[in-house]
Amino acid sequence: MPTVYIETYGCQMNVSDTELMLGKLAAHGYTPVDGPDGADVILLNTCAIRDHAEQRVIGRLGELKRFMTKGSVMGVTGCMAQRLGPQLLEKARHVSLVVGPDAYRALPDLVDRARTGERAIQTSFDMEEHYEDFQPKRFDHVKAWIPVQRGCDYRCTYCIVPYTRGPERSRALADVVREVETTVTEGMTEAVLLGQTVNSWTDGTHDFADLLRAVGAVPGLRRLRFTSPHPNDFTDRVIAAMAEVESVCEHVHLPMQSGSSAMLKRMLRRYSRETYLECVGRLRAAIPGLNVTTDIIVGFPGETDAEFEETLSAVRAANFSDAFTFKFSPRDGTPATKMPAEWTIPDEVASARLERLVATVRGMAREQNLAMLGRTCEVLVEKEARKNDMLQARTRDFKTVLLPAGAGAIGSYLEVQLNGTTGSTFTGQAVKRERALPMASPAALAPA
Ligand code: SAH
Ligand code: SF4
Ligand code: F3S
Repeated sequence: MPTVYIETYGCQMNVSDTELMLGKLAAHGYTPVDGPDGADVILLNTCAIRDHAEQRVIGRLGELKRFMTKGSVMGVTGCMAQRLGPQLLEKARHVSLVVGPDAYRALPDLVDRARTGERAIQTSFDMEEHYEDFQPKRFDHVKAWIPVQRGCDYRCTYCIVPYTRGPERSRALADVVREVETTVTEGMTEAVLLGQTVNSWTDGTHDFADLLRAVGAVPGLRRLRFTSPHPNDFTDRVIAAMAEVESVCEHVHLPMQSGSSAMLKRMLRRYSRETYLECVGRLRAAIPGLNVTTDIIVGFPGETDAEFEETLSAVRAANFSDAFTFKFSPRDGTPATKMPAEWTIPDEVASARLERLVATVRGMAREQNLAMLGRTCEVLVEKEARKNDMLQARTRDFKTVLLPAGAGAIGSYLEVQLNGTTGSTFTGQAVKRERALPMASPAALAPA
């Protein structure tokens, strides 16, 4: 049987797409393998969000060339494939397959053609495509990635995603529920709903609140998460559903991008500093113990020192516990690249801002995490940790906890006490859950 190796870059959407592609290729007779050596088909499922992400892939395509044998095929899928299309075939002569995110249904056919020596490319968008009949081949057996929405209808001026993923479209509620039911049957007790602005999900009849309630009602599902929501789509209905559905975890990843209203306007984020912070306030008021994380860009065109200071103060006001922080990377064809040249922020300035921002976030996380020491909480054991023979687990509010090997099986829930922190992650120790045994009543003890 021919073999296929896929290397995945970028966001969870790509991880989920890789699972779909492997499922589709497996159904077509391909055996997935976990290394490039000797693979008949090598695919890079790529990300185009920043130049750095693309440069890594270009470098990796060169490195992987040495694993190619006579008749093997190297292909590029995902957002870079969509963005660069035929240019990829010109840039890298050993690449013979280019497939965009909406064209994976054609993958087996395109791979077959590439294996006979053709150079195959397909990058058309398909507004109906949700790969509903694919059987994803999952690698994570604890949490299930559930795509509920593809594409994006926002047009943030820095962002390439609307161009690489096309217009927003949502899956039907019943299809999402059915997939979650299946993953629970397979033993996965956590589901993560995926979409670029996931809380704008609608199938025409239902909204995201309905979706949370419907998925939350699946028996056996213990943890429900979603990523990434947009502040403007957090209606009161959605927040109420989050508060009321027991499996919805006390964590929201809510990209802020900037804490300056003027900057947010140039980014076309469609909210202000005030409405963003107000949204965080509404979420915190409804969901006790909510942990909020974010994404922030520094060095976007025209960012003044004062605007950057506003970002730092908003980070404090929102009391984030973590943030993914990025230096702005201009993407061809996005509106940000057409802004006045004098707005460009010198790299040294952006780097210095990034450093200050990271230090601010780290300091806050450290403070919050130190205050949590000694607490007991429920964790789900996710996998073996990368180092030191430990297990990696997560709290409901998305903190990472390292446990001694043998503390519990992967996929199990434990009560742990947080007994150490590096500032960002915790170490913990399993504690026996206090079982509240029903007290025997004196009458029952009395001899008959
Ligand atoms: N749909 C999500 C974001 C997906 S992209 C949302 O709107 O919240 C993930 C993150 O990458 C973004 O939140 C942003 O912080 C960052 N990003 C996107 N485009 C970028 C660019 N051109 N330069 C730097 N960072 C960028
Ligand atoms: Fe990009 Fe904005 Fe869409 Fe997020 S909401 S994917 S940042 S355009
Ligand atoms: Fe990257 Fe595409 Fe995701 S650009 S962040 S892989 S949607």
